[in-house]
Amino acid sequence: MSLLTILKYPDPRLAEESLDVEEFGDELKALASDMCETMISAPGVGLAAPQVGRLLRVIVVDRSDPEDEVRRPEPLVLVNPEIVHADGSQVFREGCLSVEDFQSDVTRYLEVEVEAQDLDGNFFTVEAEGRMAVILQHEIDHLDGVLFLDHVSPLKRSMYTKSLLKRRSKDRDGR
Ligand code: NI
Repeated sequence: MSLLTILKYPDPRLAEESLDVEEFGDELKALASDMCETMISAPGVGLAAPQVGRLLRVIVVDRSDPEDEVRRPEPLVLVNPEIVHADGSQVFREGCLSVEDFQSDVTRYLEVEVEAQDLDGNFFTVEAEGRMAVILQHEIDHLDGVLFLDHVSPLKRSMYTKSLLKRRSKDRDGR
């Protein structure tokens, strides 16, 4: 197992659409296992393959309860995940391992039903509401090249982008 490098916005690869997984072999298992390790070590609650530069429809999420005193990650791998049912709405404060130093309220569905495949290609369904529904929607968005930034107002987004570019040029100039 190894830790993978997480791409940061505005890396253009984060805006690309990922491809369906068609081969369920050792390569996929290794990718999923590295993604779980990378997510846990970040630490984060979800990670999508395009965030580590692999344009494949694979996400991992941590199903553990954030209220638990001792943190025991419960990673779940979803291959070719698809939202097959969604209902209600909620506003949740989101961040992303690929978007540094920025969080924002995003409106999402309150409940989702997701159909996916496991690492052997078997289909299964996950029903989630609240926070876990947000995480699933956020990660599945990544597979379509969509970041939570794309759900915030254009003004907020452009202010963030400007401050990010400013900070990067300062870092580059060593000031
Ligand atoms: Ni993200």
